[in-house]
Amino acid sequence: MTAPSTPGPTPWMRPLGSTGLQVSAVCAGGSPLGSMPALYGRDVCADEGVATVRAVLDSPIRMIDTSNGYGDGESERRIGAAIAAAGGLPPDVLVATKVDPRGRDFSGARVRESVAESRDRLGLDHLPLVHLHDPEHFTFAEITAPGGALETLVALRDEGEVGAIGLAGGPVDEMARYLDTGVFDVLLVHNRWTLLDRSAGPLLEAAVARGTGVLNAAVYGGGVLARRYEEGRAVRYGYRPAHPEVAAALARMQAACDRHGTDLATAALQLSLRDDRIASTVVGMSRPARVDATMAAAGAEVPEALWAELEGLLPPAGAWLDARRP
Ligand SMILES: NC(=O)c1ccc[n+]([C@@H]2O[C@H](COP(=O)([O-])OP(=O)(O)OC[C@H]3O[C@@H](n4cnc5c(N)ncnc54)[C@H](OP(=O)(O)O)[C@@H]3O)[C@@H](O)[C@H]2O)c1
Repeated sequence: MTAPSTPGPTPWMRPLGSTGLQVSAVCAGGSPLGSMPALYGRDVCADEGVATVRAVLDSPIRMIDTSNGYGDGESERRIGAAIAAAGGLPPDVLVATKVDPRGRDFSGARVRESVAESRDRLGLDHLPLVHLHDPEHFTFAEITAPGGALETLVALRDEGEVGAIGLAGGPVDEMARYLDTGVFDVLLVHNRWTLLDRSAGPLLEAAVARGTGVLNAAVYGGGVLARRYEEGRAVRYGYRPAHPEVAAALARMQAACDRHGTDLATAALQLSLRDDRIASTVVGMSRPARVDATMAAAGAEVPEALWAELEGLLPPAGAWLDARRP
């Protein structure tokens, strides 16, 4: 299938660093569609998850992000079911996944098993992009040990078992250490290059300087920036209670969007879409209607004056996620 024309940013299809892969400016994030109520506040049934992926496949969105671990594999299973129901993966759609540990086992053997499981659930013979997922939950020494997770992921690429390899994780200092190994083709950051948090700035610069493809995920901070801000409602950002300065900034940003005749979701998405360093922006979704809403937000007009105003409302660095790590 050829992607329909889109009113979103141009070019809509972009190179992903030097991988040779092409990605659409927006990527569908597969974490909520695997049903993870602890993170997103609701259960998602299989039918709704599969219908969401089918809506994505019928849209201009040509990339889907998932992981072995989302919903204990449910995200990959639902994506696989949608691909099968569509009669196969359209050739211009890229499905990226991630290797995950089993419990505390993130050995080389576990990495090979994780890739085999993902291939099976997705029903795909070849995985064109596989990330090392959230290595921050282990020590750098564990992950980089001889024969360990990182060495094995590199070996899988060398053997042609997977295509490109990526690094997908949170805390920027740790991600910078991994990026410095020089082995990754792609970097995925999350919740750290948004209207409310810019922790990832130096990391994005380092990745671009290396020719590493950049994916910017969770530009809604896990959902809070996708909705209208309402006074008095508890604010969560990046899957945890928001710093008070973040909540205060959110209220002021809502007022600024109102004055300029737009909404937070549009501004949150377009902040990332207008950034040349970012190949694709990963938006999580678990309802078919999100696809049209995302495309509408991508294509909406935003008054130029709003951007300077929003920059002036950015919370101080001390309130960003990486300043609050235990
Ligand atoms: N370490 C990692 O590798 C890592 C970490 C974080 C994220 N990611 C990837 O990036 C993706 C994005 O992150 P995320 O899903 O955590 O957070 P997000 O994209 O910031 O927000 C997702 C939430 O926003 C809601 N939403 C989306 N569009 C909306 C709209 N138009 N109106 C109202 N609500 C809307 C979704 O609701 P519904 O679910 O109800 O549709 C979903 O619960 C993930 O799904 C995952 O693929 C990777």
